[in-house]
Amino acid sequence: MTESRDALLAALVWQGELGADEAIGDVFVDRTVPAPKPESQAAPALALVADGAHPADDCADLDALRAAIEAHEHPLKHGARTCVFADGNPAARVMIVGEAPGRNEDIEGKPFVGMGGQLLDRMLAAIGLSRHDEDAARAVYITNIVPWRPAQNRTPSTEESAIFLPYVRRHIELINPALIVTMGNTPTKALLDTTTGIMKMRGGWTDIMVGEVARPCLPMLHPAYLLRQPMDKHKAWTDLLALKAKIEELQ
Ligand code: URA
Repeated sequence: MTESRDALLAALVWQGELGADEAIGDVFVDRTVPAPKPESQAAPALALVADGAHPADDCADLDALRAAIEAHEHPLKHGARTCVFADGNPAARVMIVGEAPGRNEDIEGKPFVGMGGQLLDRMLAAIGLSRHDEDAARAVYITNIVPWRPAQNRTPSTEESAIFLPYVRRHIELINPALIVTMGNTPTKALLDTTTGIMKMRGGWTDIMVGEVARPCLPMLHPAYLLRQPMDKHKAWTDLLALKAKIEELQ
């Protein structure tokens, strides 16, 4: 009895050290055992991949896309509270793609609401942009590559990014932005299909084909990185000015 109590206490301390410091559901789920997949979900997904089709392709609007993402069975979904879909003005000409929700985003259900998000809002405000602006010319729309919070805020793997990429590409088609900004390594590598790191990619425009349209994409340093490395904020400022200049070219 004492032995099992000690083992349970040690497991609890270990989880705390890993950052698993809160309950996210009412029911205990043993995640050391692979979750059984209902056949009705597993089989069609394989068939769709084999056909070359993807559930995202059928989404005619944002509600359908959100529903398709929420229905996508993925282990990350079971460790998160909320599907973090997007925030901002869907009519915006600038679409920002981040990495994945963190703890605050998971709680609020919106991307970039933690400290990094607050810095992002201030950075955007410095060039006259806001996620809350009703005027499409001054608005931004924000999403992430991965819609579910990875445990302990780890960086999503390349495989996880690849799984959700078709949804992001459809998201871009539906929003139809004139410009895309990728924040940090994960969305830059996924959307620009590159292995080159953000330090080399940042600040340079690259056209990406989404649907039939080539859209200029600007990789920038992630706000969470800038919070850790404020000495690099001048690089973000240079990139913001490049974004502002490109927006002015649109007018
Ligand atoms: N970092 C991101 O990339 N996205 C969020 O939504 C929050 C933090």
